[in-house]
Amino acid sequence: MLLILLCFHTFTWVASQAPPPPQNVQVEKGQLTWTPGEPGVTYTVNYRRFNSDKWEALPACIQTPSHSCNISAIGPSDTNGSPENSCVTLRVQAERRGLRSEGVKACSRDGDVCTPPFSILTQPGSLTVFLNDDHELAKEHDNNAKHRIYFGREGESPLQEYEDTVASRTIEELEEGQRYCVQVAYTLHGKLVEPRSCIQCEVIPASEHVNRTPMIVGLLVGIVVLAIIILAFSCALFFHH
Ligand SMILES: *[C@@H]1O[C@H](CO)[C@@H](O)[C@H](O)[C@H]1NC(C)=O
Repeated sequence: MLLILLCFHTFTWVASQAPPPPQNVQVEKGQLTWTPGEPGVTYTVNYRRFNSDKWEALPACIQTPSHSCNISAIGPSDTNGSPENSCVTLRVQAERRGLRSEGVKACSRDGDVCTPPFSILTQPGSLTVFLNDDHELAKEHDNNAKHRIYFGREGESPLQEYEDTVASRTIEELEEGQRYCVQVAYTLHGKLVEPRSCIQCEVIPASEHVNRTPMIVGLLVGIVVLAIIILAFSCALFFHH
């Protein structure tokens, strides 16, 4: 019993020494960046091609104290042809004294062959995700290439898979004044193509409850007054004769 307790304590002590995972891991224009962490921490970048299960290291970015990595060194896939073969999942791990954090996958700020560009339009009670259905993967694979929308309230982590869709989508019945977040990725035959887009969040505006009561009351009063005048004139005319 004592031994188990001791082991457990040793384990938690060792585990607590692992540095926290890197934050805000993102790709922009061929450059992978993340937020600077604690001093004495190094970072290792790995990548995995779309058509492979194997993580590979990027020689220039193994145990680097830097907070960025030039990923153009990855180079094209040797099984070329289809555009998705140029897509890679990127992962960054923090390391200190031989202990590694869990890997954090990068999101992409650029829309390109591997990551869909998108924009968001909010209206009272709804949010529309605008997607372009005319992209490289669709040209190659038609309707087998889709967009996967991840969606949720801000702070809800991770975002939930909402729908796989070819074109734009409107999400209805949302709470006004609440901030919602969207992330989009391509899928090919249901398999995720990475990197995913980075998360974008927007507030759902409140609907303008235009107060129509004074207008309706004014209109009714006008009609009644008009009716009385017409009636009065008719009476006057009637009695005159
Ligand atoms: C990344 O590397 C490529 C090729 O080695 C180079 O052309 C490019 O300028 C580098 N980008 C940055 C931001 O250092």
